[in-house]
Amino acid sequence: MTAIWEDQISLHSRVDPVFDTVAPAATWKDSDAHPTNWDAELGDVSLELERDQAVLPTTPDREGYFGPHHFSYWASGLRDHRNLMAGAERLGVNVQRYLDMGCASGRVIRHFAAQTPEIKTLGCDINRKHIEWVTQHLDPSVVAFQNTSIPNLPLADGSVDLVSAFSVFTHIEALETTWLMELDRILAPGGMAWITVHTEETWLEMGQGWPLYNAIKNHPDFTDNASPMTSDRVVFRWKNDRSYSSNVFYTWNYLERVWGRIFDIVETHRRLPVFQDVLVLRKKG
Ligand SMILES: C[S@@+](CC[C@H](N)C(=O)[O-])C[C@H]1O[C@@H](n2cnc3c(N)ncnc32)[C@H](O)[C@@H]1O
Repeated sequence: MTAIWEDQISLHSRVDPVFDTVAPAATWKDSDAHPTNWDAELGDVSLELERDQAVLPTTPDREGYFGPHHFSYWASGLRDHRNLMAGAERLGVNVQRYLDMGCASGRVIRHFAAQTPEIKTLGCDINRKHIEWVTQHLDPSVVAFQNTSIPNLPLADGSVDLVSAFSVFTHIEALETTWLMELDRILAPGGMAWITVHTEETWLEMGQGWPLYNAIKNHPDFTDNASPMTSDRVVFRWKNDRSYSSNVFYTWNYLERVWGRIFDIVETHRRLPVFQDVLVLRKKG
């Protein structure tokens, strides 16, 4: 297919997708053979399952997340919803409006819609297919919109209390500080951002079985990760002519030196859940 200009700053902008879907999460609870012990991690989720009757995306329509393990896909979003709400509570943030940047087909925002419907939920993604998926299948109260790789969101200053970006800044090879400034702009005073990153510790730890390692070890620029990163910001680019095609690692020093000027870094969490670290950022007073 001939390249079109939108592909450089977005994905699938000209498709009108038709989706197959997977039955709601409750269908899969007792037959999901994923190694995570969700009962131990989440406790009894029967109420949450009952509240979320929406269909699930097929594996290709959810960025491949959790392969055939449909319940685990759902449960991982519930875990992240809980982590976000617990983080907001620790920081005393009263969440009335929430944005998930890079929401894909709604792994996390579906739980805001089902479990905390009093919160106005927004999701954005550069991939039009994902926005269509959310719009066709999640509660009409959820507002989903397509953005581009150019750091600019069609939201008013100070209009959200909580922003998350799960596995998004791990792929932003350019203009990441401009994105941070944009998130700072839309956050209300006291607002909180929850952003997952690959750090220098991820770099040293990743090995066989890590989804990222399996990809990166085949990159022509990769030699080994037995020694510390050789620069503060390491980027593996797969393609130059399209968005969302790279993997990025940061040192803690860089995050503090660069990101810490834009936001207060109030918490860091290692390996939450497993393969990435979390920065909890607060709008500076
Ligand atoms: C690895 S997936 C993670 C999806 C989702 N956050 C989750 O945790 O299930 C990364 C997502 O971010 C989107 N994305 C990448 N760069 C983006 C950007 N600059 N703005 C918004 N979405 C972006 C991709 O299209 C993709 O849906």
